[in-house]
Amino acid sequence: MVLKQGPAAGRPEASGLESLMASAERFITMFHIENRAGPPDRRLGQIRREIAATGTYWHTPAELTFGARVAWRNSSRCIGRLHWPSLRVRDRREVAGAADIAAESVAHLREATNDGQIRPVITVFAPDAPGRPGPRILNSQLVRYAGYEKAEGAIIGDPANVGITRLARALGWCAGWPAGRFDILPLLVQEAGALPTPHELPADAVLEVMIKHPGFGWFANLGLRWYAVPAISDMYLDVGGVGYPAAPFNGWYMSTEIGSRDLGDAVRYDQLPVIAEHMGLNTASQRTLWQDKAIRELNLAVLHSFTAAGVTISGHRTESASSPAPVFHRGDGNPDQPPNFYRHDALARVTELFRANALADTRAGRMPERRYGSSLAYAAALGIPQSRFLE
Ligand code: ARG
Repeated sequence: MVLKQGPAAGRPEASGLESLMASAERFITMFHIENRAGPPDRRLGQIRREIAATGTYWHTPAELTFGARVAWRNSSRCIGRLHWPSLRVRDRREVAGAADIAAESVAHLREATNDGQIRPVITVFAPDAPGRPGPRILNSQLVRYAGYEKAEGAIIGDPANVGITRLARALGWCAGWPAGRFDILPLLVQEAGALPTPHELPADAVLEVMIKHPGFGWFANLGLRWYAVPAISDMYLDVGGVGYPAAPFNGWYMSTEIGSRDLGDAVRYDQLPVIAEHMGLNTASQRTLWQDKAIRELNLAVLHSFTAAGVTISGHRTESASSPAPVFHRGDGNPDQPPNFYRHDALARVTELFRANALADTRAGRMPERRYGSSLAYAAALGIPQSRFLE
């Protein structure tokens, strides 16, 4: 299995250069109009020459900041996007090394966390360039809880993160023994052409909230918690045709993301049956609507706990009242306009590959040796030639 190479990964075709110029023109024109920066012609001439000479172009800091903000504004499925002008843009385009990316991601988390007063932040790392793809962060968010597969298909932790957890272990991550329900995963950062490396997040960079309920004393004993900053790290930012494959960004949580989905969903932490049992609900029939009662208390507990801890969170009622995006929305089928964020699919491919080839290496309950087989599978998934890996 070989990854499809993006246009920036190889030598750009002439048509690729033309479409890059067309994207640049659209974006730079928008930049000049919205920022009342006069006619864009001079800048466009410059960009045209730069593209002809190098196959890409470098945004000015002002263009990058504007582009990242508009990418948020254009994210039609995001209910919080009306806050787009307040996005803090950390320009780290000179940073491409895995350890530096991890360190800057930690700095991102600290700036975003701000003692609980969450600030929307994006950190933009090195762009893709012809023949020189930029770095990647493989985790779906900077902070994620591990999901460990146990015998008989049971999972400890967050089932959404089983693939990345397996990969972290195969790459030599040794924490997570014994497996806990809320173990924070290391960042898996991949420099172009290299295997990813795991980087532990310092505990004091990750703010978490213990979930308790304003009325039910037993609720705290469920031992539920969640982190404060949802920082998406597996999407690439496209600004004017330039791809930034590592550009983690965050806003703050809406309570139902955590209550209804992360903790409540049957394919995630699946807490509704447990809560219902403590509430003494009759769960024998769906027709008692016991799930609706339990989910209401779980969402209330999340909202209450974050608020009591002084951590920014919005409730789904308040947020949808002020947003152009409804709480329950469906994509209209059209991909969002650039500048925008688009999903990488590399990890899905890697996960598939691991499931097929390398399970034996990472079976639960046993330290994986630093696995040759799985590393090869991984390298193959990313299109890295074996010869390169074996040397
Ligand atoms: N739904 C995701 C989660 O529960 C986070 C997505 C981004 N959410 C946000 N409020 N910015 O982790």
